Amino acid sequence: MENFHFFVPLTCIYGLARPYNIDRCTTGRIDRNPDRICQRERAKTMRHIISIRDLDRAEINGILDHAQALQEQDYDPQALTGKLLGLLFFEPSTRTRMSFASAVARLGGHSISMDSVEASSMVKGETLADTIRVVSGYVDAIVLRHPKEGAARLASEFAQVPVINAGDGAGQHPSQTLLDLYTIRQSMPLEGVTVGLLGDLRYGRTAHSLAHALSLYRATLHTISPKGLELPSGLAGELRDSGTEVIEHDDVQEVVKDLDVLYVTRIQRERFPDSSSYFKVASSYRVTPELLEGVRDHLVVLHPLPRVNEIDPRVDHLPYARYFEQSANGIPVRMAMLLRVME
Ligand code: CP
Repeated sequence: MENFHFFVPLTCIYGLARPYNIDRCTTGRIDRNPDRICQRERAKTMRHIISIRDLDRAEINGILDHAQALQEQDYDPQALTGKLLGLLFFEPSTRTRMSFASAVARLGGHSISMDSVEASSMVKGETLADTIRVVSGYVDAIVLRHPKEGAARLASEFAQVPVINAGDGAGQHPSQTLLDLYTIRQSMPLEGVTVGLLGDLRYGRTAHSLAHALSLYRATLHTISPKGLELPSGLAGELRDSGTEVIEHDDVQEVVKDLDVLYVTRIQRERFPDSSSYFKVASSYRVTPELLEGVRDHLVVLHPLPRVNEIDPRVDHLPYARYFEQSANGIPVRMAMLLRVME
């Protein structure tokens, strides 16, 4: 599914109609200078984190263990001294942007940012590919959020520094998944966990990334979404092919008492073609204290945030609510990610 979607937006992002002279590697010709590593070959050796699929289970466990050590023990506040992180956010963000900025600062590094297409020379017609090539010369790593699925993968092809995907349209959000796993692991083992994915599973990139990651831990997935917002069939098929049990439900009430984790997502209004189709499904589910009566004692309710109205604020006071701890966990997890790609 990921690859299928990747090709669709490339013409928009890269501007394929424009006559680019990329470099000899990308044109398939051999570079005559053996000392010069071409751009694409260099890109392959860098530690980009574009999709959760870029990490296997051992690597994920390694990042989570490192994050835990960073949180529980002293860390070197000079580990990234002299390093500069580029935050390129072409969609709104509170948590991802600020926690990456906080993480690099805690490790002694600095960040610079570009916060919108309108504030950049992309508004004059510069492509993402050129923007990334240019910014690569200014920073030691790039964190990119972009509305087009596949944008971060494309950026990694042109960057001369590591790229971390901070969310690409309805594609992937790997740093969110790592902190989601980290938060679950604080309460229970990941192996064999039973998780309910509630909400907009069609456009919700956090759910896409998390579903794949959980399949590495032999989780059972219960999906509950409004009609038309189900998990993409390609992803559901891929999960089932990997041996993951994926069970669809119409109503969260059918399954909430069997869950270890209830992962709630908002409806991604910004991905809808028009507001009338959004309003048809808006407010079609809501987690309330009444819904949570009789659930397992150890149930953990997570949400990547921001929430709109899908979790009643009264739930915040129940022992199940972990979504604010979850967002705070973005700091140790993103510190571990930055150390992995920048050190
Ligand atoms: N969870 C998440 O990605 O939040 P932001 O959009 O605020 O970064």
